[in-house]
Amino acid sequence: MPIALIVLGAGKGTRMNSDLPKVLHKIAHAPMLWHAMRAGAVLEPTACVVVAGHGADQVEASAKAWDEDAVVVLQEEQLGTAHAVAQAFPALDGFEGDAIVLYGDTPFISEETLNAMAEARSRHDVVVLGFEAADPARYGRLVTEGDTLLKIVEFKDATEEERAITLCNSGVVAADANVLKDLITAVGNDNASGEYYLTDIVEIARSNGLSATVVRCPEAETMGVNSRADLAAAEAAFQARMRAEALETGITMAAPETVHFAWDTVIGRDSEIEQNVVFGPNVTIESGARIRAFSHLEGCHVSRGSIVGPYARLRPGAELAEDVHVGNFVEVKNAILHEGVKANHLTYIGDAEIGEKTNIGAGTITCNYDGVFKHKTTIGKNAFIGSDTMLVAPVTIGDGAMTGSGSVITKDVPPGALALERADMTVKDGLATKLFNMLKAKKAKQQAAKAAQDT
Ligand code: UD1
Ligand code: MG
Repeated sequence: MPIALIVLGAGKGTRMNSDLPKVLHKIAHAPMLWHAMRAGAVLEPTACVVVAGHGADQVEASAKAWDEDAVVVLQEEQLGTAHAVAQAFPALDGFEGDAIVLYGDTPFISEETLNAMAEARSRHDVVVLGFEAADPARYGRLVTEGDTLLKIVEFKDATEEERAITLCNSGVVAADANVLKDLITAVGNDNASGEYYLTDIVEIARSNGLSATVVRCPEAETMGVNSRADLAAAEAAFQARMRAEALETGITMAAPETVHFAWDTVIGRDSEIEQNVVFGPNVTIESGARIRAFSHLEGCHVSRGSIVGPYARLRPGAELAEDVHVGNFVEVKNAILHEGVKANHLTYIGDAEIGEKTNIGAGTITCNYDGVFKHKTTIGKNAFIGSDTMLVAPVTIGDGAMTGSGSVITKDVPPGALALERADMTVKDGLATKLFNMLKAKKAKQQAAKAAQDT
């Protein structure tokens, strides 16, 4: 059965108190919209329509970044959830199959839940996703009789008796696309909010002789985000799930509660992630790597056997081959470190390629930026870069070459050569003692003068 996703994201999100459209606020570095689209993607939809309103251009760019085939339609005025869904139908012209409505601000619907809804659709015309709410607050209430969903009442329109119901509406709805379109056409706005409620389709369906039912899911999945506090709570819930999954897949974490994942972090089995490690987007860590405490990684790849940190920073384009060591206060950006490279202390490596088993001394810096352009540093294998070497790019250091500590390297160094760039050292016997004595005598004289003045 072909499936079309309709993702609602036109609402303003007033309570976010933000210039950014609500659905573009991020959880684990991905906009909520992506989470919702990703949730729906498990059904392998043949079409995905996103309904945008506030900040539609930004929402469109974000939707396309996730799925370039997604169609974004504009709901100019937000007249309610049924009106929002109605905007999607022109984009689904000729589509035959099921439509599933998801909310862009409800990012955590699981695969099992969506599959259960698809399954329930084989027995009922309209399937609504519900949940038992610990605090039903202002959610729509699901009025049921056995397996049958009789109607959905919005809190504002509910009687005292209906408000006592704890089975609530998540907003997720599945029905045949053409049936849904007909039902929505029949929805009016004669209610407490003067809005076109998607929830009204249940009663309309039943009065047309169609059947409706409810599929239940854990409340955690239907967690909606309406405020920054909700966003923080959703982030915490997502992190808790990522940590549990990481432990489950065989990753060692002594303090998982201090590790922050991105939505797409991939870590191989038998890796160790120490305390207070932060993963930005697009990080892959191979099996058996060790990421030590207080490291920050984004857009990078760390191979088997490598050790990163403590206090290391891997930025986008950092590519560490096997058994590479990147130590404390080392920053790596857009650079390939081949097998066995060591950069253990206080170093910046940017726009570079470093050959296998080369050692980068403490305090080495690739001077990659001239104020306008970025330049590349290439270092061969088995080279030794002395401490505090400044590599002024573009520059190439050959295989097996050395640079003397403190050198500013502005020209290429051939393989096997030693490059030294610093003034000759001179030693003056006894001069330090003489200088110390002079300075101490001067200080004693100043103190004596001050004492005389004070008396
Ligand atoms: C809706 C449901 C309610 C349910 C709750 C779950 C209706 C009438 N009510 O209420 O039963 O318990 O969600 O969270 O459906 N949107 C648009 N265009 C609009 C209006 C809304 O795109 O004109 C989008 C919003 O961006 C949001 C979603 O639809 O993603 C839900 O809208 P919202 O205003 O939050 O509905 P609720 O009042 O929470
Ligand atoms: Mg809402």
